[in-house]
Amino acid sequence: MKKIILIISLILIGVSFGVSSNQIFSPDKSLLLNVIEKNGSLYYSLLKNNKIIIEKSKLGIIADRFRFSDNIVIENSKTTYEKSAWTQVWGEQSEIIDEYNQLVLSILSTDDQSRLIIHFRLFDDGLGFRYEFPKQENINKIKILDELTEFNFSEDSPSWWIPAYAYRRYEFLYAETLISEINRDKYSELVEYLHGDRIGPEAVQTPFTTQRKDGITIAVHEANLTNYSSMTLKTNGTKNMECDLIPWSDGTKVYTNAPMLTPWRTIIVGNNPSEIVMSTLTLNLNESNKIKDTSWIEPGKYIGLWWEMIGTNQSSWGSGPYHGAKTENVKKYIDFGSKYNFDGVLVEGWNLGWDYNWCCTGEGEAFEFYKTHPEFDNDEIAKYSEQKGIRLVGHHETGTQIRNYESQLDSAFAYCKENGIRVVKTGYVNDGSQNIKRIDDEGNIQKEWHHGQYMVEHFRKVLETAAEYDVSIVVHEPIKDTGLRRTYPNMLSREGARGQEFNGFMPTDYNNKPNHTTILPFTRLLSSPMDYTPGIFNLKEYRYHSNDNRTINNHHQIPSTISKELALYVVIYAPVQMAADLPENYEGNPAFQFILDVPTDWDKTIVLNGEIGEYITTVRKDINSEDWFLGSITNENGRDIDIKLSFLNDKVSYNATIYKDPIFGGWLSKPEEVEIENKIVHKDDNYKITLPPGGGQAIHFSPNN
Ligand code: NOJ
Ligand code: CA
Repeated sequence: MKKIILIISLILIGVSFGVSSNQIFSPDKSLLLNVIEKNGSLYYSLLKNNKIIIEKSKLGIIADRFRFSDNIVIENSKTTYEKSAWTQVWGEQSEIIDEYNQLVLSILSTDDQSRLIIHFRLFDDGLGFRYEFPKQENINKIKILDELTEFNFSEDSPSWWIPAYAYRRYEFLYAETLISEINRDKYSELVEYLHGDRIGPEAVQTPFTTQRKDGITIAVHEANLTNYSSMTLKTNGTKNMECDLIPWSDGTKVYTNAPMLTPWRTIIVGNNPSEIVMSTLTLNLNESNKIKDTSWIEPGKYIGLWWEMIGTNQSSWGSGPYHGAKTENVKKYIDFGSKYNFDGVLVEGWNLGWDYNWCCTGEGEAFEFYKTHPEFDNDEIAKYSEQKGIRLVGHHETGTQIRNYESQLDSAFAYCKENGIRVVKTGYVNDGSQNIKRIDDEGNIQKEWHHGQYMVEHFRKVLETAAEYDVSIVVHEPIKDTGLRRTYPNMLSREGARGQEFNGFMPTDYNNKPNHTTILPFTRLLSSPMDYTPGIFNLKEYRYHSNDNRTINNHHQIPSTISKELALYVVIYAPVQMAADLPENYEGNPAFQFILDVPTDWDKTIVLNGEIGEYITTVRKDINSEDWFLGSITNENGRDIDIKLSFLNDKVSYNATIYKDPIFGGWLSKPEEVEIENKIVHKDDNYKITLPPGGGQAIHFSPNN
């Protein structure tokens, strides 16, 4: 072992003597990156703890103006070590250390004499690399036709994935299969029948996660997706995967200009699943905060006029006798939110455009984003909410009519500023993925993918415009996050996965299974906060057959328990969290206190344990106090989890308020019963968390002084 380290250090030192080096270690030496040029092609491989985890995998990129594939030479290489620290405006932890060894290779294509630079950064928690096409004579506009980056795993391990090139964007349950078994037929067999035409290759969305037999857990994703199209991972029945860029409607992958940088391709690596959840690599690979005055960006909690449409089915977004966003109804939510010190009240259906066919085709009535529904008295509501010290959370459902939304963007956000709205939830409902209408330069209609460059650029335009008006956004049906919240901290949260809403409108057989939230932290949540909207307390007999047929539909039950719903506020990170149920389901329930107490901005986060699809226990320390909060959840199996309370401060004892399922409780038995226990605990104590099937536990630790 010592010998290997010595040899590698010599190679690193070799750089300073002008010897080209293609290897770097991570700062803690647990990861080793090896980049080689062989027969004119470039490859990388990655080792963790001296074991190969990514085998020789090709690097390269092909465009109309250059080709970096089979005839390249490395002209120069340089390694550096960097270490710095930065502070988040809000987040899972206040300070983040950015420490890595960097390798920069200058490449020449002997095909066309063009030059490429590849930047590799090796952190303790993984690898990031990106291609840079520097300014070159006579090259301005570029069409990227293919990116050749491979991810050839050394072991065919279990993996957790959702399909790309499918309807409903990212809102799928996860499949668990070997990497070699990934394909749409398998998904249809195991999870959900994927109807519709097969377009595009067999591919999965990122973050894509796999766990080896030795426990090492690897997630492939990307960071800083800017002016580019999303990367999906193409599969081929083996343990090898390849970058696949979502194309434009004309087949081009990316339209760009020189000089240009691709997003970072990232491989997050941990000794076990818990370690990857705590990775900061994606954020470290994004640019620092561009918003100077961030005083208007406020994490917090909100309630809203939402579950009565999507969950209980008692109200409608559109006009008619059941229209939810009527002034008097909105005022009731304002009263409740203000009474319990919530920061915001979301109101959906406040504007025009919901009445005809708004959903699912991109062809509905055009939404208005600064003109209100006649039953929503804006002046009255703005005045009332100001008096009550609570802000409205705006809602912009676009129905994916991008042109319509973009034409109103400035007025829409100016309206928010005038009315004291600081957070807007946006939405892009449209149930076919390549169904985003774009009008090209000739005035023809083209259909684009939800994850292609057109939408990447649209989402950025919305984010930047919102920032100009001091508005933060929470995007539903978003493009996946790649760490953008570091650069634009007004990018608060997003959906981008199957959220609570599926428990609202889907019958029991098709809703989120108890294991869903035990997979999310190790997959989707690696990319960013999620607006899952936890906190449903009325888990059974909550939904009407329809607005008109106000009898309870027994085909709906939420596969959760109240204690698990509470635990989700800690397990799923979001700087703005919704208390999603109706006010009357909270009023008088002592378990509501946990939702009132739990913060949304943290000083520290530790994932104590977890296995993908099985369970997870997360603890976080409040940024504004010495309080700690714990969330622990399980899949459909009950289990005991022993933990040490060593994360607590040793100078004080703590009053622990424990919210737990009854011992014979769980998602099928007494899901709405919560036992609340108070206990004095100390850093040296051990504690056993008992979780019944589908259950959870939430704990609030407060210093006892
Ligand atoms: C889907 C969103 O996820 C949901 O939260 C919202 O209520 C509806 N679209 C309507 O915009
Ligand atoms: Ca959604």
